[in-house]
Amino acid sequence: MNILKGTKVTWLGHATVLVEIPSGLNLLIDPFLEHNPSYPKDFQLPEQIDYVLLTHGHMDHIADAVTVAKKHGSTILGIYELTSYLTGKGAEKTIGMNIGGTVSLPGVDVTMVEAKHSSSMQEGNQIIYLGVAAGLVLTVKDGPVLYHTGDTSVFSDMKLIRELYAPEVLMISMGGHFTMGPKEAALAVKYLEPKLILPIHWGTFPPLKGTPEQLAALLPDGKIVARVKPGESM
Ligand code: NI
Ligand code: MN
Repeated sequence: MNILKGTKVTWLGHATVLVEIPSGLNLLIDPFLEHNPSYPKDFQLPEQIDYVLLTHGHMDHIADAVTVAKKHGSTILGIYELTSYLTGKGAEKTIGMNIGGTVSLPGVDVTMVEAKHSSSMQEGNQIIYLGVAAGLVLTVKDGPVLYHTGDTSVFSDMKLIRELYAPEVLMISMGGHFTMGPKEAALAVKYLEPKLILPIHWGTFPPLKGTPEQLAALLPDGKIVARVKPGESM
């Protein structure tokens, strides 16, 4: 698809997305593989995954982060508290950052933006604070601007994200219950004005009832909602 200008975006179920950019860099967002009911089990990840990018510390977003990073030689990028926590869990290479900041990687700038959500891990009956939840904007050199919302409600400052970065490809959580549902996601699309929409964080578990069809029905004509199965690329 022309909007993607050579960047390959593959949905791997839930919020897990593989982004392969023309510079040769491979990025895996929110790896939830082994216990993800919608992960395509026969999918072959690329041998080289340069960066594992994390939106927040909930288990359904970081479950396989350290395992993938060790196996594929990846650097884990996330909010500071989360990368510190994962260092304690065996992560060897990390980049801790925070909301509003940008990290320049070869061929892509990664900006951490706001999300309205929580971020923690439960160990026994302890809740461990892992910073706040975030979204990620990927500005690919000579390519598209991609925005992975992470888990979030809709918020009016999405207009700032539009003004600052103008994302063309929107990976939007829209299953409801823990994140936006279709109604809220439709308003987020109005604020962000993307050209291409990939619905994520839906269908994985019974409470996540929102569907891409429901979202598409709420959008004006001309908005493209990708209908891909886990393991398929846009
Ligand atoms: Ni979450
Ligand atoms: Mn989640």
